[in-house]
Amino acid sequence: MKASDYIEESTRYLMGTYRRYPIVMRKGRGVKVWDTDNNEYLDFLGGIATNVLGHCHPKVVMAIQKQAQRLLHVSNFFHIGPQTELARILVENSFADKVFFCNTGTEAIEAAIKLARKWAIEKLGPHRYGIITAERSFHGRTLGSLAATGQAKLKKGFGPMPEGFKHVPFNDIEAIRSSISEDTCAVMLEPILGESGVVVPSPGYLKEVRALCDELGLLMILDEVQTGMGRTGTLFAYEHEGIEPDIMALAKGLGGGIPIGAVLAKDGVAGAFKPGDHGSTFGGNPIACSASIATLNTVMDSGILLDQCKRMGSYLLGKLEGLKLKHPDRIKDVRGMGLLVGMELAFECADIVKACMARGVLLNCTDMNVVRFMPPLTVEEKDIDEVVETLDHVLDQ
Ligand SMILES: Cc1ncc(COP(=O)(O)O)c(C=O)c1O
Repeated sequence: MKASDYIEESTRYLMGTYRRYPIVMRKGRGVKVWDTDNNEYLDFLGGIATNVLGHCHPKVVMAIQKQAQRLLHVSNFFHIGPQTELARILVENSFADKVFFCNTGTEAIEAAIKLARKWAIEKLGPHRYGIITAERSFHGRTLGSLAATGQAKLKKGFGPMPEGFKHVPFNDIEAIRSSISEDTCAVMLEPILGESGVVVPSPGYLKEVRALCDELGLLMILDEVQTGMGRTGTLFAYEHEGIEPDIMALAKGLGGGIPIGAVLAKDGVAGAFKPGDHGSTFGGNPIACSASIATLNTVMDSGILLDQCKRMGSYLLGKLEGLKLKHPDRIKDVRGMGLLVGMELAFECADIVKACMARGVLLNCTDMNVVRFMPPLTVEEKDIDEVVETLDHVLDQ
């Protein structure tokens, strides 16, 4: 079938929730992806920070194939080997004692909200359901996550929202302190605002939030759906600040390209979930967990890829700083951590992203004027050079 036929059918049969580019992707390997006309692209969009190991990493593919021959799905009425193994690996490599598996980021956030509320109702009383989150945050599209999200435009037309969420400016500890009221039970934050222009808070901000939560007996929930799985150069972004959350949501990179989400928590909090309190038919599915085990083991393997992420992140930032010097009236700021990097332009970036795509480079435009880079942790200097050269040409025009 020709690309134009796919596109016509797609428009006919799919709901119009996405503004899609007129391209049909066919196959991917590592940092590259090809469309049905065999055009090659360097993929710095990475399934929106999902393909941490690039496309079709052989270890992930092998794990899926092996598991597919053994068992595709079984209910959570039974113990599931790969699910238990994945939970053990996550617990051994994080702050957490217990894990709940789901399928997406928004589900992980829903579970985190429910867990915090259940904990608070048991430990603090029935009136403690309030959660403080950040303005401009993004936590997902289902109603609880959407209510938690600090962006009014995404909620338009879907009200009424579940109550109990307050939004405060990001990177402002006093704003959190002054919005705490007698119903507050938790503060939920992304370590970096990924969907709102890669906003990195000042060093020490998350530490202050942790201290405030400790002082007032509130839970600290981190949404590491985008920043987790090595994206910032450590397995989880909270490690940079030397703190630990009480609850953490994961998804995106967790499955190396296969849908899986998770909520991690310490024992004292996780214990609030009793049989029947929460669940997911597909959560912890054997295929998804096998893909995730292979992904996690590869990301963590002797710290090689985490080091590479840090090095390549600095290399990319350095190159973009160079570009900023060359185009000072077009590039306003360059920022990020590891391989989650943003380049803020003085104008809307959609056309820049399109022009790069026409030259074989996939990037993303977030918050209207921030070009976002989310390549796999396996990315190399030559790939970064090519992307920056392409951007240079496009900005020249
Ligand atoms: C920080 C954050 N939280 C939650 C989500 C929602 O994840 P999903 O699209 O898998 O539901 C996203 C997605 O972009 C995200 O970036």
